[in-house]
Amino acid sequence: MKTKHDLIAEAWTLIEKSIIYYRNRPIGTVAALEAGSDALNYDQCFVRDFVLSALAFLISGKPEIVRNFLIGTLHLQSHEPQMDSFKPGPGLMPASFKVVVKDGEEYLTADFGEHAIARVPPVDSCLWWIILLRAYVKATGDTALAHQSEFQQGIKLILEMCLAHRFAMYPTMLVPDGAFMIDRRMGVYEHPLEIQVLFYAALRAAKELLLPNDANLSCSNSVTQRLQPLTYHLREYYWIDLNRLNEIYRFKGDEFGQEIANRFNIYPESIPDWLTEWLPDNGGYLAGNLGPGRMDFRFFALGNLMAIITALASEAESQKIMNLIEYRWQDLIGYMPMKLCYPALEGRDWQIITGSDPKNMPWSYHNGGNWPVLLWLLTAAAHKTNRLDIAEKAIDIAEKRLRQDGWPEYYDGKNARLIGKQSRQYQAWTIAAFIVAKELMANPSHLELISFEME
Ligand code: GLC
Repeated sequence: MKTKHDLIAEAWTLIEKSIIYYRNRPIGTVAALEAGSDALNYDQCFVRDFVLSALAFLISGKPEIVRNFLIGTLHLQSHEPQMDSFKPGPGLMPASFKVVVKDGEEYLTADFGEHAIARVPPVDSCLWWIILLRAYVKATGDTALAHQSEFQQGIKLILEMCLAHRFAMYPTMLVPDGAFMIDRRMGVYEHPLEIQVLFYAALRAAKELLLPNDANLSCSNSVTQRLQPLTYHLREYYWIDLNRLNEIYRFKGDEFGQEIANRFNIYPESIPDWLTEWLPDNGGYLAGNLGPGRMDFRFFALGNLMAIITALASEAESQKIMNLIEYRWQDLIGYMPMKLCYPALEGRDWQIITGSDPKNMPWSYHNGGNWPVLLWLLTAAAHKTNRLDIAEKAIDIAEKRLRQDGWPEYYDGKNARLIGKQSRQYQAWTIAAFIVAKELMANPSHLELISFEME
């Protein structure tokens, strides 16, 4: 029988194998090592997927690949204001990239979602990029890289795109459906929690990374001005616990004017049946989405766990989120940590909201599937809240199955007993997340690469 130590060694061998080289330097990792004959774009380096490999490399004192990645992707960032509305706007970072050879020379080509299967723009890439830059600087002390004018310019381009005042009158960011890890139609358009939490983290990271000079003054001011209402808005209006549910249940609809309790005109009838029974007395979470006449009551793991890690959720709320996970263990963790979104869209909802997407069948893939990549977030959140037993139990589950199952991308079924129907094997972020989770257990100080203190 192989020991736990062998497991980490195997994980590392696989990550090393997944490295992409560009002009003889490591620059990223492929999404999946064994993508099969229909590799689609799983042989590319995805920005959001690489964050996990990057954290593993940073923690293990191998920052070079992360540095190369940050420089390489910065060059891929869209720059020029586009006359062609089919092209990405300035500031956008690609979903993925790959190395191509032309006339004997290697080049990087980027995909901003125009080739990717579900054809969605990757709003999260630029947010993760800033968050990763901060992690790199924290791990290496290489502030010089972030202070280079190209990097300062890159950060500002991202911020200008995200902070632009468009049609919404909320501090949250308005995005199309499938703009992040859930990169297909799933009813996560408008103001999905994931994007808002990443936006908040990216703003906080940018505050640390932007040099205090005249050229940055107006941008830095805009960041500060946005952070405070954004934090208030998310804490105040996205939060759901039994008290809040009682308030929503007794909301009056269709009120006019400024001083009203039901600011978003949420109808109590929209509270789903499952929720009242499901929510434990001492639990709570941040709602999946909030907009006019719409509160998405689904639980989304990434947004909630990142809210804990980045101190967007208060300490009391963070404990309540962990209580919920503990109390609803079978639903949210089951046989593989952890569920991306709960519950699944079924029947007519699935037809209308996903456009009858066969990959996102109920309790599969993004629609109620379980993703081992989330293990690192659960572990980090457990450290932040001092709930280590939760992390230990979850890692134990993952440890027993992941290698045996070939490090799958995701699992299916209400409790994740099945390996995902179209799941890839040897998925790099599954493997890297396992390494990061184990390293966090061994040395919790690594948490500081990604966490923030309460402001
Ligand atoms: C799928 C996932 C996406 C991930 C990509 C590469 O498209 O939905 O989140 O980045 O695969 O692993």
